Amino acid sequence: MPPSSSLSSRPVLLVKSGGLAALAEWQALFAEFSPAVEVRGWDDPEVDPAQVEYALVWQPEAGRLARYPRLRAVLSSSAGVDHILCDPALPPSLPIVRMVPQETQQRMAEFIGMSCLLVQKAVPRMFAQQRRRHWEEVVATRLASEVRVGIMGLGALGAQAARYVRTLGFQVSGWSQTRKSIDGVASYAGAGELGAFLASTDILVCLLPDTQATRGIVDAALLAQLPRGASLINVGRGAHVVEADLLAALDSGQLASAVLDVFEHEPLGAESPFWDHPQVIVTPHSAATPSRREKARQAAQAMAALTRGEAPLHLLDRSRGY
Ligand code: NDP
Ligand code: OXD
Repeated sequence: MPPSSSLSSRPVLLVKSGGLAALAEWQALFAEFSPAVEVRGWDDPEVDPAQVEYALVWQPEAGRLARYPRLRAVLSSSAGVDHILCDPALPPSLPIVRMVPQETQQRMAEFIGMSCLLVQKAVPRMFAQQRRRHWEEVVATRLASEVRVGIMGLGALGAQAARYVRTLGFQVSGWSQTRKSIDGVASYAGAGELGAFLASTDILVCLLPDTQATRGIVDAALLAQLPRGASLINVGRGAHVVEADLLAALDSGQLASAVLDVFEHEPLGAESPFWDHPQVIVTPHSAATPSRREKARQAAQAMAALTRGEAPLHLLDRSRGY
């Protein structure tokens, strides 16, 4: 069959997110939010590459996005875009829009708030005791107001999380490239202030993007700068953490506990020592996934902005990598 014979003349939005099972839902959502586009599945053989103007993707195969000559933008199905940037054939000036609806920001803030309370109240230790059927009172020695939470990355997600964690009573600071002004949140900026930030952090939250500068940033040298008995919450990317260094810090007592939502290799392999580690809570990259409805709404807004010739919200800065 010749390509595109059964397609209308509308611009095509190709979708690779949630598999074939999700396609009908995407089609219904975009019919509501962006009726001018025709939504087609990633592997639809009838799609003429010349008609594809947008792609909504999670982990597209390398080389694939370069095949569409009229592609106007890639809409990431996630906030992080490492799964797109790892494609060596990605056209260098192709706009990429990160998926950061308000729902993601709220979900991430709640997840980080929950995790801070979990580690402050020594819940990982209680869970470990439960698995051994061991009864021993565990007293969380400090109140939230006595615990300092430090968030690495004060962007769209980190800033909202910082405000939320403040409302739970914690002392909060953040570290970013540039200085921030967030009510009640101490701001540290740049490599020169990283040491001071770490020295005053009891619960370190990693919410950075995956870039050349941040890959492997949570290593033995960084962990050693935290006060002894600190905790780590990693909701950024697995690539931020040197896993062997994290295990060593947990085993030596430098770190008391960790909540890990993201890993170097996902899904986490059955052989990973994190699964059974008594000081670790593992969650399956689930900190902040928004509904498809909110994703479609944000994607539709981005396509409308591009059609008007405007820059969409959460447009990736390709030179910075985030
Ligand atoms: P943003 O791009 O909005 O913010 C990134 C923040 O990191 C900014 O504050 C930026 O500083 C800071 N930053 C970047 N590089 C450096 C550096 N080298 N040194 C210091 N600070 C740096 O990203 P989002 O907040 O939207 O998302 C952050 C990440 O969270 C995503 O990339 C993704 O990896 C992860 N994520 C994980 C999810 C999960 O389910 N676990 C869900 C959603 C996102 P500045 O502001 O000064 O530029
Ligand atoms: C992510 C997301 O980037 O779920 O991890 O949005």
